Amino acid sequence: MNVLDFQRMKNESTKISMVTCYDYWSAKILDKSKIDCILVGDSAAMVIHGHKTTVPATVPMMIHHIEAVSRGAPHKFIIGDMPFCSYRMGQSKTMETVDSMMKAGSHAIKLEGADDNVEIIQHIVKSGIPVMGHLGLTPQSIHALGGFKVQGKDEIAAKKILEQALCLEEAGCFAIVLECVPYQVAKKITESLQIPTIGIGAGPYTNGQVLVFQDLLGLQNDFKPKFLKTYMQGFELIEQSLNLFDQEVKNEVFPNIQEHCFQKA
Ligand code: KIV
Repeated sequence: MNVLDFQRMKNESTKISMVTCYDYWSAKILDKSKIDCILVGDSAAMVIHGHKTTVPATVPMMIHHIEAVSRGAPHKFIIGDMPFCSYRMGQSKTMETVDSMMKAGSHAIKLEGADDNVEIIQHIVKSGIPVMGHLGLTPQSIHALGGFKVQGKDEIAAKKILEQALCLEEAGCFAIVLECVPYQVAKKITESLQIPTIGIGAGPYTNGQVLVFQDLLGLQNDFKPKFLKTYMQGFELIEQSLNLFDQEVKNEVFPNIQEHCFQKA
């Protein structure tokens, strides 16, 4: 997949699948899978580093994750998430960050919001770097939004998100993530845009879906938002395996002399 395939897939009504990834071994699994593209999300701050929001994500943190993912998934299109405030630092500092994220292995970058970001998005796009937008619930603005809440519920708020989406398309974004908006709003936006939308908590009418790797595999047993479907009970499966290892060590079942041990010559 390359950046042109996003538009092709929308034109052909083929849905786009995107999954977040932050590390080498998960990237190797994704690389073998049929998932279309990988987002190295700033959700790493929460999922991997245990922070309560994505605000603590930093450029060095993101670079570290992008490098690991690009080593593990050499065949996938990788989108690197620009962390909190990193694209609000003036043009030259922002471009230094974009440059380092691309050199780390991203094929595109993602940033949250529209309005005052339109100018920098245009500049990044004109510099030959594909930009993915992100509207609706923009977690980096969590303190301004007053919490992780569904956005665009009333007519005025929905109209504002639609206008922002049209602005991002005009600015040159190749796709837009729509997070936690009513499905009717996501449908209207998707129908109004030429470029594809990729939803999370935005219903079935977007051009694609994105989920966090650990969420879809049930690895975070304390995170169960309405929009999430878990495809395995990863937390319990891993816990059971760890407990079995503990039991076999204590009962001297593991290691087995024949199977797991080296012999003297
Ligand atoms: O950082 C992230 O994981 C994201 C997705 C929720 C789209 O931005």
